[in-house]
Amino acid sequence: LLPGRATRVRELIADVPDFPSPGILFKDITPLLADAEGLADVVEAFTRLVPAGGVDLVAGMEARGFLFGAPVAHALGVGFLPLRKAGKLPPPTSSVSYDLEYGSASIELRAGTLDPGARVLIIDDVLATGGTAAAAAELVEQCGGVVAGLAFLLELEALHGRDRLTGRNVDTLLRVS
Ligand code: PRP
Repeated sequence: LLPGRATRVRELIADVPDFPSPGILFKDITPLLADAEGLADVVEAFTRLVPAGGVDLVAGMEARGFLFGAPVAHALGVGFLPLRKAGKLPPPTSSVSYDLEYGSASIELRAGTLDPGARVLIIDDVLATGGTAAAAAELVEQCGGVVAGLAFLLELEALHGRDRLTGRNVDTLLRVS
């Protein structure tokens, strides 16, 4: 984020204790999305995280990764790839299972949407345990893509999500310990 903007963006992310289950501190980006300047700052900051060599596609993780991934793809002049939770996409799909901060799930990608060797930037709002991001990267690779990088609005450092992404190009706009 541009100097002086990070504090404001940080203030637009609300802490909600015990949601969706006891003991979870939920990071609610709703106020940020509703703020024109904050949203523009975040989208612009994401576009500056494109890895050397560029990208052919931006992939966003359902659901909140869509909210940043699609405008970033548009700003970069590339297409957008939705990584969806199980059962949302028609067949044929490729699928990877993963653990959540709360529960477990699987994600799917529509087969045939990725050209072999396509360079993909994966975007999501939060890097927590890293389970979702690791699965997203695995899914892109399973479909023949190359994970050029992963970029997140907010990294929850205490959950060590980066440990699940060792060797990958990971960038985060904000970090909380
Ligand atoms: C949240 C968040 C990330 C993921 C991070 O999504 O948007 O996708 O959890 O957690 P992890 O690093 O521990 O895997 P959630 O599953 O709540 O889905 P939503 O965006 O549809 O609300």
